[in-house]
Amino acid sequence: MEKKILFPQVGGFVHGGDYNPEQWLDRPDILEEDVRLMKKAGMNSATLGVFSWSVLEPREGEFHFQWLEDIIERLYQNGIYTVLATPSGARPAWLDEAYPEAMRVDEMGLRAHHGGRHNHCMSSPIYREKTAIIDRKLAERFGSHPGVIMYHISNEFSGECFCPHCAGKFRAYLEEKYDHDIEKLNAAWWTAFWSHRYNSFEQIEPPFVHGETSVMGLNLEWKRFTTWNTNDFMQAEIDALRSVTPDVPVTANFMRLFGGLDYRKMAPALDAISWDNYPPFHNDRETLGETMVETAFHHAVMRSLKRGKPFMMMESAPGLVNWQAVNKVKRPGVHRLACLQAAACGSDTVQYFQWRKGRGSYEQFHGAVVDHLGTDDTRIFREVAEVGELLKKIAPAAGTLVKTKAALLFDWDNRWAIDDAKAFAQATKRYGSTCSDIWKAFFRLGVDMDVVGSDENLDDYDVVVAPMLFMLQPGTAANLKAFVERGGQLLATYCTGYVNEEQLCFLGGFPGDGLKDLFGIISEEIDTFYPSDRNGIRLTDGTIWEVRDYAEILRVQDAEVLGTYTEDFYQGGAALTCRAFGKGKAYYVAARTDGARMESLFEKMLTDAGIPVRRLPEGVECHVRTGESGSYAFYLNNTLEAVSLPGITGRDLVTDREVAGELTLPACGVAVVHTAAE
Ligand code: GAL
Repeated sequence: MEKKILFPQVGGFVHGGDYNPEQWLDRPDILEEDVRLMKKAGMNSATLGVFSWSVLEPREGEFHFQWLEDIIERLYQNGIYTVLATPSGARPAWLDEAYPEAMRVDEMGLRAHHGGRHNHCMSSPIYREKTAIIDRKLAERFGSHPGVIMYHISNEFSGECFCPHCAGKFRAYLEEKYDHDIEKLNAAWWTAFWSHRYNSFEQIEPPFVHGETSVMGLNLEWKRFTTWNTNDFMQAEIDALRSVTPDVPVTANFMRLFGGLDYRKMAPALDAISWDNYPPFHNDRETLGETMVETAFHHAVMRSLKRGKPFMMMESAPGLVNWQAVNKVKRPGVHRLACLQAAACGSDTVQYFQWRKGRGSYEQFHGAVVDHLGTDDTRIFREVAEVGELLKKIAPAAGTLVKTKAALLFDWDNRWAIDDAKAFAQATKRYGSTCSDIWKAFFRLGVDMDVVGSDENLDDYDVVVAPMLFMLQPGTAANLKAFVERGGQLLATYCTGYVNEEQLCFLGGFPGDGLKDLFGIISEEIDTFYPSDRNGIRLTDGTIWEVRDYAEILRVQDAEVLGTYTEDFYQGGAALTCRAFGKGKAYYVAARTDGARMESLFEKMLTDAGIPVRRLPEGVECHVRTGESGSYAFYLNNTLEAVSLPGITGRDLVTDREVAGELTLPACGVAVVHTAAE
């Protein structure tokens, strides 16, 4: 297997983070000290330029780049590479003063005032023009510097703008999509309802909160348009940079399962996927192990956006953040666990926000590698330096990949459609956490699922779970049928196949688009529960799975019934079915039950697919990266007790010792066990 190392210049893992020297230009002593401290912390990278616009271009057309050049050069001379950001994440005051149309308009039609960040109109021609100018200038000045290893586009793209420019672009987007035929749009959006028919595209407005919000097709297309427009903006920035330096790779930092943008549509434009990881460590709802496994799910989402390449953990907090409801510090040892987890899940980088705490403004108390104290003898600094050492030890694992034969389907459109549907119970729809709950159940069985789109090629997988696939894209049903036919094990759940890609309900029985034949059932009704309501599914072996929130009443046409309801007027009705189809099997679970309860079913699906199951002690996590040099099994002990794991052999890169049968991990301990390729 070819090694796909993201940063050959670094030759291993990138260890770095957001660095804002522009906040310290009057303190050359601190800038000097930064380099010494970065080296001491084992950092080989710094992300420069995020939000630096007002220092780079203090007045329109007046560029001040020397300070940045000095820093990039000094870092490079000291073995520290630069990830260079474009500054478009926040606008300087002169820009908004001269060009107020760059400021976003909200869903009430109100234009924002200057300030904050991440609040530009993505369509504004002048904002795009100004962004392209500074991006090109940055590329001209720095893109060929040997220290610059990547461009970081803007920062955490997000949000919608309802200004006249955006509304016009939205209409143009719709005209294109519906072949300039308003009747096609009327049909797709079911506008005869409440007299909402349009005579022309000119009559269409974005879904203002005090305007049209009752047409699901409009709401959905607005979301799709927002992704399209953001992508278009991002592509314009990429084009500006590439017009000067076509070979510098680009990324844009994503945020978990962020609801505002379909990241899968943005991924192709990027050379690497990066994301910002801020788990709510030590909260009052979860154990450390639970927080960690939830995070592993999000890593899997990011990893799967560009399969076949490592991803990047672009930001994480060295200590605490300043924006959680309660900003708790990471307990000793947890930083190492979190960083090694990113590497374990397929990241080639461990990067932080932020290198040094600023003195003022919004993030003055946000955790950093260097505190206001300013020294290298703090607990956090020591823990970061320890991670720096660790990443050097495990460098051979950089560029290797997490490979799996199991996938979970997750679609952003589907999420939008479920959330927007006037149905079910708003508080319990929980599509995202339903997906992560199932992902975690497979993880406990030792299977690190990819998280892929329903229309993606499933050839790499033998087990697929499609939770709440309410909306079917064109081709999804055929994709799933082909998967099962060639021997795949598929599980779908309640809420599958209710609407098509326009959010129009299928006629003739759910799940639609032919899926009722694949599963051999029709879902005739869905019962929504109050939070305290319960039902159960009794399996053929007598086990009972508790049911919450949703239960569908099925008509079984051609499927084996594996479980029936225990309560209510549909007691005895089918709740879990299986249909053999081609060489594979299509399971349908008609009600919501915990992923943990379904583990026995998942285990059967895995076993039938020939995928080995491996249970580790509670709180212990394992991910395997493989490449031409062999495999690297990352073990994380997310508990405060030592654990011993039998049946493990290989060389632990962390201790540089052979493991001959039993691996012992101290509390919060980590190991990376290498087994050479045959
Ligand atoms: C991220 C953002 C950073 C910083 C950080 C604080 O969302 O990209 O600039 O604000 O949060 O946790």
